[in-house]
Amino acid sequence: MSTFLLEFSYLIGSVTFILGLKMLSSPDSARKGNLVAAGGMALAIVATILFHEKDGQPIGNIPWIIAAMAIGTVIGWMMAMKVKMTAMPQMVSFFNGMGGACAAIISIVEFNAHPEGSPGYLLVVFLGLVIGSVSFSGSMVAYGKLDEKIKDLSARFLTWFNLLLLFLIFAILGVAVAAPDTFGHSVVWILLTLSFLYGVLFVMPIGGADMPVVISLLNSFTGMAAAFGGFLYGNQVMLTGGILVGSAGTILTVLMCKAMNRSLLNVIIGSFGGGGGAARQGSGDQVAKEISLTDSAILCAYASKVSIVPGYGLAVAQAQHICHEFEKNLESRGVEVTYAIHPVAGRMPGHMNVLLAEADVPYPKLVEMEDANPQMPSTDVVIVVGANDVVNPAAENDPGSPIYGMPVLKVWDAKNTIVLKRSMRAGYAGIENELFFLPKTKMLFGDAKDTLQKLVGELKDL
Ligand code: TAP
Repeated sequence: MSTFLLEFSYLIGSVTFILGLKMLSSPDSARKGNLVAAGGMALAIVATILFHEKDGQPIGNIPWIIAAMAIGTVIGWMMAMKVKMTAMPQMVSFFNGMGGACAAIISIVEFNAHPEGSPGYLLVVFLGLVIGSVSFSGSMVAYGKLDEKIKDLSARFLTWFNLLLLFLIFAILGVAVAAPDTFGHSVVWILLTLSFLYGVLFVMPIGGADMPVVISLLNSFTGMAAAFGGFLYGNQVMLTGGILVGSAGTILTVLMCKAMNRSLLNVIIGSFGGGGGAARQGSGDQVAKEISLTDSAILCAYASKVSIVPGYGLAVAQAQHICHEFEKNLESRGVEVTYAIHPVAGRMPGHMNVLLAEADVPYPKLVEMEDANPQMPSTDVVIVVGANDVVNPAAENDPGSPIYGMPVLKVWDAKNTIVLKRSMRAGYAGIENELFFLPKTKMLFGDAKDTLQKLVGELKDL
């Protein structure tokens, strides 16, 4: 009976993971999807504790398990409550690293329990160990870089060194599976050390702006490592969860590379621009023209079509609610307002969609880049709120630019462009933006939230 209950709970758990993942694809259902999948996971954990048996014996060490779960729950809960929207990628990276560490620990424990296992068994154990360790150390470095605690380390020789290291890891793994006596028990520690080192060195040279792609790749590694754990224990729910995370992470990695028009290989060895971005002035005599709050409000209020382009600065300023108010005020005057969404605006996939959904902006108002670009020439005013790299014409016309080839929002095709930011500083890729100096562009300097608040005030006075 207990086996039936366990298997049945796992089946429900697996179904909820799939349903949850499906629901995550739309902002309307994403929150519910998260809860559905978390509910499935909770059921699987409780069922394992209650019904799992080995050689007729129930699970032991219950107080230890409950204590570990309580500590993990409290830490996870506190981190999730405290995290700012802009620091989400760091948190995802940290949690992902923990998943990788779990998978590696499972492999170490299992190897010590059955060092004389079959070649197939050992292969699964070692793959889980290698992938889990790479995912753990890589995710920790990614966390440090996103939090600006670790700087990029770009050196050409690292690419070759990393390839050599990878070759060495797989050579040792192959020998350890084919002839287990060669390294004896120490093989787990050798593989653990080398994989840990590889994870660190593989992420170190990757540029700041590419980190979300790497995080998603490491996510898929953790999923794979967890799936190997599922194989080891013959545990269906762990296998399903691992495969889902692994495949979702892989698909996301491919989609993000596509959105930036770059290959994964180019992201991994390309050393793109670093994070932060130093200030750079316009080259030569270029002068950016400013616009006043009143003129901006008048331009928008008497337009028939306005498009808002949100970017990372909107998230930093937490300006989504006031932006929605600004949009509603314009609409009440008969202006057609939409949001043009670049797929990699912000610092994580879907960042702008999540942010705007939080402010109750109706989903149909969000126009994807492919649909927004053809509408630019008929748009009277584009108002760029805290975006930079995703509206940089260098991606189209400067083959020397690191973002050349990345699809961008062609805001310069609109009749007027207002850029709302605090200064002339560069965006995440650290490169100058020609848009600020184009004849149809006007700069509206200030914090996004504060400036939008003042704009709403101006609109009310009109
Ligand atoms: P960015 O290029 O980073 O530009 C954001 C701009 O916001 C900055 O230039 C900054 O200028 C301004 N800003 C910051 N705080 C502000 C505030 N409080 N009020 C007003 N403005 C503020 O952002 P983006 O255009 O969204 O581009 C995203 C970048 O991340 C791209 O390089 C993209 O390739 C990269 N990236 C994203 C992803 C994903 S998945 N989203 C993945 C990989 C890479 P000031 O300092 O002058 O205010």
